[in-house]
Amino acid sequence: MNAPILVTGGTGTIGNRVVPLLRAAGRNVRILSRHPRPNEPGIEHVEGDTVAGNGLQPALKGVDTVLHLAGGAKGDDIAARNLAEAARSAGTSHLILISVVGADKMPIGYFRAKAAAERAIAESGVPWTVVRAAQLHDFLLPLMKGLARMPLTPAPRGLRFEPVHVGEVAARLAELALAEPAGRVADIAGPEVLDIPQLLATYSDFHGHRHPKLPIRLPGALGRAYRAGENLAGPGAQRMMCSWGEFLAEQSAAAHTASAIG
Ligand SMILES: NC(=O)c1ccc[n+]([C@@H]2O[C@H](COP(=O)([O-])OP(=O)(O)OC[C@H]3O[C@@H](n4cnc5c(N)ncnc54)[C@H](OP(=O)(O)O)[C@@H]3O)[C@@H](O)[C@H]2O)c1
Repeated sequence: MNAPILVTGGTGTIGNRVVPLLRAAGRNVRILSRHPRPNEPGIEHVEGDTVAGNGLQPALKGVDTVLHLAGGAKGDDIAARNLAEAARSAGTSHLILISVVGADKMPIGYFRAKAAAERAIAESGVPWTVVRAAQLHDFLLPLMKGLARMPLTPAPRGLRFEPVHVGEVAARLAELALAEPAGRVADIAGPEVLDIPQLLATYSDFHGHRHPKLPIRLPGALGRAYRAGENLAGPGAQRMMCSWGEFLAEQSAAAHTASAIG
């Protein structure tokens, strides 16, 4: 029997890359999202809303493993509590959550909700795995595009990121979903720690738009947390391979191929 793996957020940036890996490993996948989609061989789509708590029981039927990737700006704590409760009732044997590096330290609602989500999973009574990931390259790219357009680029001092490639995050998640519950595992982050001027300099190598920087100081608790590196992975993190420059080169090559075909 090939019990499906339930992937919440299987339609998102990360989920889109995880689902084919689970299929390649021979597993059937059930994707829960808020919008109906046609099924494909080995991939069933079910409608549900993790925050509203709709559709979770039917989605969990016959499922042993749940990979919880659904997330948004608000409500990740509520979603995790809803899913944890439904998974406990359904007798799920492994619940995996993607969280964010610095979840328990950064004074931002999104991070606090992720920390609460981690607790909900750990206290669910369902065997679990939690992995925290750094920001994806794909998350930083639109920010850099926006900053690069400004005639004077604000560069908050001490604001650093460890961008990581979506494919490498997806591979780790697939590995965790196919393994035994492991509790909190090592954070995953990219190979470099880069501040805004460094991110922009590499972006400009590919796209031009080199403008003067305006150093600014982020105020308050948020500024202090970023300057202290509370959003950065610790020494025990799993460092992935793909650099920011390699990601931008990949993007440029894809854009050239698309324009050559189009
Ligand atoms: N991107 C990053 O840099 C990053 C870094 C660390 C951790 N994470 C975490 O990784 C997870 C996936 O990130 P991503 O970048 O792939 O996100 P994304 O591209 O924004 O996709 C979000 C996914 O969540 C689903 N979703 C959102 N709200 C939902 C709800 N109420 N009920 C059911 N499904 C819902 C969406 O499905 P539909 O729209 O089809 O309903 C979509 O598949 C998130 O939990 C995020 O917080 C992301």
